Amino acid sequence: MKVNGRSYRTVWMDKASVFMIDQTLLPFGFGIYEARSYTDSCTAIKEMVVRGAGAIGAAAGYAMAQAILEGAWEDARKTIESTRPTAQNLFYATERVYNAALLGGPAAAVLIAQRLADEDVECCKRIGVHGAALLKDGCRIGTHCNAGWLAFVDFGTALSPVYTAHRQGKKLFVYADETRPRGQGARLTAWELAQEGIPHSIIPDNACAYFLSRGEIDIMIVGADRIARNGDVANKIGTLEKAICAKEYGVPFYVAAPTSTIDVSCSTGEDIPIEERSMDEVLYQTGLAGNRLEHVLVCSPGSPAKNPAFDVTPAKHITGIITEQGIFSPENITAALSAK
Ligand code: MRU
Repeated sequence: MKVNGRSYRTVWMDKASVFMIDQTLLPFGFGIYEARSYTDSCTAIKEMVVRGAGAIGAAAGYAMAQAILEGAWEDARKTIESTRPTAQNLFYATERVYNAALLGGPAAAVLIAQRLADEDVECCKRIGVHGAALLKDGCRIGTHCNAGWLAFVDFGTALSPVYTAHRQGKKLFVYADETRPRGQGARLTAWELAQEGIPHSIIPDNACAYFLSRGEIDIMIVGADRIARNGDVANKIGTLEKAICAKEYGVPFYVAAPTSTIDVSCSTGEDIPIEERSMDEVLYQTGLAGNRLEHVLVCSPGSPAKNPAFDVTPAKHITGIITEQGIFSPENITAALSAK
């Protein structure tokens, strides 16, 4: 994807360093973070310098390769895997790089980490092609959080069909909800859509039902952080209520994700671990005041907060899952794995 006319991936490795677009600076600034060691990469994943299922996966794969180059194995793998517990792609990537290293040493680890990133790009591109067929000219799309190219190595999942359809010449409009507390919709999705020249509006988190009820959203597409065998989907907190509302108003609700997000060891969504993040993310917000970034308390002083980062949407609320292998009913999602 292009930023100010220059092509970027969200995360990449060069020699022993991992580079990533620093998402904590967006949309007010643009910068590249260099992780010189696997522990630097772990900090970047935990602090959400890099975030989103596929980008976390690629960064974790690179972190595992860095660890192997540094001569760290078992403990490093545990440290990397403890950074973000919900995103399945993180575990998928560390396992593949670790196993490659067992067979072929550091060179194989780096090679597989690079291959994982390339596979992520290819899958997202194909998700775009499959998903674009669902978007008619004039379509109004609702999305949640950021499952665009910043959340993957390139293209994204939920937004990839939008980018593909836009390039096919279809006129589209996207409703991006804020996605409190980190504001991935308001900050990242809106920024990405602006870079791509796609008409959109940021809506408050609690406004989605309003627009659905008025027939102003034709289709919902969201991403996924982990998909259980029965088609239940863990995604950014707030996804569940959007899915319930979409069903109530007869609006199709799609999830877009590569098959690497499916975790066959989880039989249902109840088996998916949900990350709890710091209450400060709810209590404080960072924003631009004049030309200075400020971090301010936005809640009643002294009140505590709860901050589960994800929720689980049951398969029964999901119309279909768009994968690189095609579109599957959630109940039949494991067929996407056999199609590989
Ligand atoms: O906490 P984040 O920002 O890493 O959350 C992940 C997400 O971006 C979303 O849940 C997204 O919808 C699915 S991952 C592309």
